[in-house]
Amino acid sequence: MKSLVKRLTDNRQLTADEYRVLLTDDSAETLNLLRDNASSVARRQFGQGIFVRGLIEISSHCHNNCLYCGLRRDNRQAMRYRLTDDEILGCCDFGYRQGLRTFVLQGGEDPSLTDNRLVPLIAEIHRRWNDAAITLSLGERSDNSYRRLFQAGASRYLLRHEAADTDLYNQLHPREMSLDNRIDCIKNLISIGYQTGMGMMIGTPGQTTDHLIADLQLMQWLCPHMIGIGPFIPHRHTPYADHRPGDIYLTLKLIAIARLMHPDALIPATTALNTLSPDGHTAGILSGANVIMPNLSPASVRPKYDIYDNKKSSGTEAAECLNRLSAELATIGYHIDYSRGDHQSKATTIS
Ligand code: 5AD
Ligand code: SF4
Repeated sequence: MKSLVKRLTDNRQLTADEYRVLLTDDSAETLNLLRDNASSVARRQFGQGIFVRGLIEISSHCHNNCLYCGLRRDNRQAMRYRLTDDEILGCCDFGYRQGLRTFVLQGGEDPSLTDNRLVPLIAEIHRRWNDAAITLSLGERSDNSYRRLFQAGASRYLLRHEAADTDLYNQLHPREMSLDNRIDCIKNLISIGYQTGMGMMIGTPGQTTDHLIADLQLMQWLCPHMIGIGPFIPHRHTPYADHRPGDIYLTLKLIAIARLMHPDALIPATTALNTLSPDGHTAGILSGANVIMPNLSPASVRPKYDIYDNKKSSGTEAAECLNRLSAELATIGYHIDYSRGDHQSKATTIS
């Protein structure tokens, strides 16, 4: 196992069979070896600084119907809201004063989030806080829309691929969505010049080791700048309400493997991981993660952005408590890095 982990660390890739060996070995030794290697790679790349991104959940409306998500359109009990431009600008203002230099505008696929609404909003954020990065996480849009939002001032986009295997993708999503379209969107984002994020949940219903290998290989091919990996957590008002949550250790293992494959990627210790595990942030960082995304939404709407049960949005997950996050990081010898934290390597080109 040692030689396999060393080969992954040195070559940044393995064969499918070798990934299978790593993923099916559930010994603590293998996990710890991967995590130790991954966290040293991250430290060599980024030091002990953890980048912070202020997450503004701008709308809980969604016309999509992903089976795993509490915001799916068939969930009639979901609490829907939309932030106004003034509310969003107010969040940025507060976040900027807290020291944040990335604003992530995240929302469901809300038909009211048209280009005509978003372009002036993004341009205004860009004008007012010129040294801050604007990240979008607004789902699938046309190539033209991605271009307009980029020109307005957004420079990063998070669009998890969710499942790289067509059958699993189709099982998790309604008929009108497709893996091909998702991959086209990701390629478009990369070619426009966005720092682009991909990723998947661990432990979605029906997910096997081979599905995870396909996820690793898809990311190996597309080389995303950011990689979001968190456990699946059931939501009580979805078809997967009774399914068990993803395994924390398997999630940490995938974070570590992703770090070894992508030494310069920006990898968050996700809110989902921190929701399932009380030490999710520190465990994620000690597996190679180097980003945390504190919640910057108005406190009144946080409970309404209810994508899975018991989602954390207070304490070390809250942008108004960065001192608590800072204290948490200090327990493992890390600190908050308040710089923008852009991806450093040259842009990827794909054919
Ligand atoms: N559990 C964990 N993560 C989820 N997401 C959506 N629903 C769930 C869930 N039930 C993730 C998806 C999406 C991101 C915004 O949240 O991967 O891309
Ligand atoms: Fe909508 Fe995103 Fe939830 Fe799918 S995962 S239902 S696109 S908010």
